[in-house]
Amino acid sequence: TDRYAVIGNPIEQSKSPLIHTAFAQVTGQDIEYTKVLSPLGAFAQTVDAFRAAGGRGMNVTAPFKLDAFAYATDLAPSAQMAGAVNAMKFEGGKVYAENFDGVGLVRDVVHNLGCPLQGRRVLILGAGGATRGALLPMLAQGPAEVVIVNRTVAKAQELAALARKHQSASVPVRGVGYADLGAQSFDVVFNATSASLSAELPPLSASAFAPGCLAYELAYGKGLTPFLKLAQQAGVTRLADGVGMLAEQAAEAFEWWRGVRPDTAAVIDKLTVPLV
Ligand code: ATR
Repeated sequence: TDRYAVIGNPIEQSKSPLIHTAFAQVTGQDIEYTKVLSPLGAFAQTVDAFRAAGGRGMNVTAPFKLDAFAYATDLAPSAQMAGAVNAMKFEGGKVYAENFDGVGLVRDVVHNLGCPLQGRRVLILGAGGATRGALLPMLAQGPAEVVIVNRTVAKAQELAALARKHQSASVPVRGVGYADLGAQSFDVVFNATSASLSAELPPLSASAFAPGCLAYELAYGKGLTPFLKLAQQAGVTRLADGVGMLAEQAAEAFEWWRGVRPDTAAVIDKLTVPLV
């Protein structure tokens, strides 16, 4: 039995053990996946102990994604661009580190929700870690344009410049403030701010949602957030939260560790909280 775990503080709320245990069952993989509560300030010692006991890999959740970035010996481009790590693989003295949040998000949107990003006008709310992680996988889909809108405009502009530098395609990327959006509308709007966690609403105009638009809340399990409510009131009928992203980033990590790709449909079904 190979050992894996998710590490965080707090950790009780994590769905990762449920997800990975379900994946192991359907793929016939002999693994054990547990929760590890790390004291704040003792991330490295806690991971060292898990490795010494034979641990093969870990998912990383708040507040340790930056600690994991520092702890890694080999950072994948996804982790470098995100500036944060959400999955580690241990091989001898090596600590390989990835960030699968962005690729999980894109896979959910394109594959599960059937909404291609190619040629679409994309708006992302927020310029924090969630947006950083999502940008490159999104740009790789070849959208018509990506606009990052943020309360602190300079952060959006910096992130847009970074994305322009690192993308392999040449998609126009802009960073703006909410007041700069004017009457522009978008085919897909992502809420990657932490506003939903405090039930706040970013100052977004309803006119940002084009007819037929998809509104996607990256947070999971919060029901109809103020952002999704605004989208609904603007006439948007395709609303989604981050349950599919959660399942897909887990599937990416599972495949990276075990070499088999689990199907996510059953897990998504089980974890879906109605958007009401
Ligand atoms: P994370 O790593 O989860 O993205 P973060 O790096 O703290 O968290 O970023 C949070 C993002 O949510 C930021 O873009 C923040 O805007 P500022 O950069 O202007 O602070 C945004 N945010 C948080 N609360 C918000 C609110 N009530 N309205 C609009 N944006 C908000």
